[in-house]
Amino acid sequence: MNKILIGALTTIVFGAGTATIVAASGLIDMGADTPHNPLVYKALEFGRERSIARRAADLKVPDDFGNPERVRRGAGNYDAMCIDCHLAPEMSDSEIRKGLYPRPPNLVTQAQMPELSRDSARDFWIIKHGIKASGMPAWSKGGMDDEAIWDLAAFVQKLPGLAKADYDQLVAASDGHAHGGVNDHVDGHDEHESSSAVNTALKPVGSPAAVHSHDDHGHGTHKH
Ligand code: HEC
Repeated sequence: MNKILIGALTTIVFGAGTATIVAASGLIDMGADTPHNPLVYKALEFGRERSIARRAADLKVPDDFGNPERVRRGAGNYDAMCIDCHLAPEMSDSEIRKGLYPRPPNLVTQAQMPELSRDSARDFWIIKHGIKASGMPAWSKGGMDDEAIWDLAAFVQKLPGLAKADYDQLVAASDGHAHGGVNDHVDGHDEHESSSAVNTALKPVGSPAAVHSHDDHGHGTHKH
């Protein structure tokens, strides 16, 4: 018994020591353009999903989650805050998404993790708390209340396979960028609200122009 204990302790100390030496040596490439070793990626993914599942387990999905009003309200916020990373119908890619690691899933095609059908409690938890060191923000920190986050989760359910015309219609019918949820559409985000209303009115929603035109600035090969 003692031998097993000593063996286990030696392994732990040796493992921690090796990990410290590798980290201190600077050998780990932290660049977002160098993928993890597939085993490391799988381990991180496993840990992430276990952590989210544990924390989302007690969440109660609101009784009116299926109310189309939630989808309508969620559309405006999704269009204002999420498309640069998660795209919209007929948007092929964005500059920021190409450079992020892990790459944000395309929520219209969900090509990255097709095995995960949309789980609204999981989506709510992720949107509210974000995911460490991934680029996915904790939107609650930016002032979104729970109701507005459930609205987004409801809209995200609608996204897979949504036609561009239907997407545009939902965004046009929404309240634009509003954080207040069910009873309170304006909550001190006035500057955002008005600018996003202007954006929604001026730009073809979901088109590359909604991100920005590639002709507007040179990308090294043309000029600079
Ligand atoms: C700056 C980029 C960025 C923005 C903006 C962003 N996300 Fe994310 N999001 C990510 C990344 C990256 C992941 C994947 C994280 C990972 O794999 O660990 C993610 C994951 C998710 C997931 C889980 C997807 C899945 O099935 O695994 C959902 C749902 C989500 N985001 C919703 C949203 C919503 C809604 C918004 C807008 C309010 C938003 N995100 C804005 C980067 C972003």
